[in-house]
Amino acid sequence: MHLVITGRIDAEVREQISRERPEMTVAHWRGEGTIPRAILLKWVHEADAVLCMLTERIDQEFLDQAPHLRIVSNMAVGYDNLDLPALTAQGILATNTPDVLTESTAELAMALMLVVLRRMRSAEDDLRQGLWTGWSPDGFLGAELYGKTLGLIGFGRIAGAVLRRAQAFGMAVQVYSRRTVPDLPDGVHQVDWETVTAESDIISLHVPLSPSTYHMLDASALARMRRNAVVINTARGPVVDESALVLAIAEHRIAGAGLDVFEQEPLSPDSPLLGLPGVVLLPHIGSATVETRRAMARRAWTNIRSLAEGKAPADLLNPAVWPESRR
Ligand code: DGY
Repeated sequence: MHLVITGRIDAEVREQISRERPEMTVAHWRGEGTIPRAILLKWVHEADAVLCMLTERIDQEFLDQAPHLRIVSNMAVGYDNLDLPALTAQGILATNTPDVLTESTAELAMALMLVVLRRMRSAEDDLRQGLWTGWSPDGFLGAELYGKTLGLIGFGRIAGAVLRRAQAFGMAVQVYSRRTVPDLPDGVHQVDWETVTAESDIISLHVPLSPSTYHMLDASALARMRRNAVVINTARGPVVDESALVLAIAEHRIAGAGLDVFEQEPLSPDSPLLGLPGVVLLPHIGSATVETRRAMARRAWTNIRSLAEGKAPADLLNPAVWPESRR
């Protein structure tokens, strides 16, 4: 089997791969940043398996260069970078890495809420610039999470982990999901779209990106939101209409945002988001802990190893392809 790894994965997992399948040949992109498309398209020509990052577009152009490919193992829980119907049509297995990044992403969502509401970015900037003149009764007054209403958009594993944390902070929580969510904790209600957008102090997005969630938080939803409301996005940038968000914040119709993901990544240095007060911007680091990235790499590898052992990978996204037709 020939494996292509498209990014700098955890060294322990890289060693594990060599140890567990010494016969496997591996092409590993260890360069800075995203693997150049031309190299990826060249490398995939020989590949039976690809362990890829969410930055790689696995589309028809890619598949046309991949005559031997049997599995695409995406090192991410989100898989909007994969053309799943095309993979399925060609009998190629696709997998993701659920579960392992739930806690780190939930922690980051909470961190963004705190940093935005407590105005930590501008407070720290002032301190660093020597503008802090001492404690003052009205200096850097923010808002607390305690007693606020959090609206969770989507209710998968990560939203569930945010819910537990929010309750520990003394927040009220309401949930919007297109499916019926069973067994919500006491006091937590599933509400409709109008209610969650109109009656939350913080909206935190936890939906995958798909045609049905693209620009889900749009101008009309933003128009319903409270003046003190804050948008937290650790999911995927395009679920929010970024231009509408910029306008809503610039016109003080909502208070701000904490964003870890953007419509275009990396964020352009010309993005109007950069000039807005009340906004905290992070470079897609929801899962960026040593523990989580190791677990993601291990899980992505385990899915490939299962195939090498003739077993169905645990995180199969297109079970219709199993048993494989490409062997
Ligand atoms: C994912 O796994 O989808 C995350 O966005 C990675 O940080």
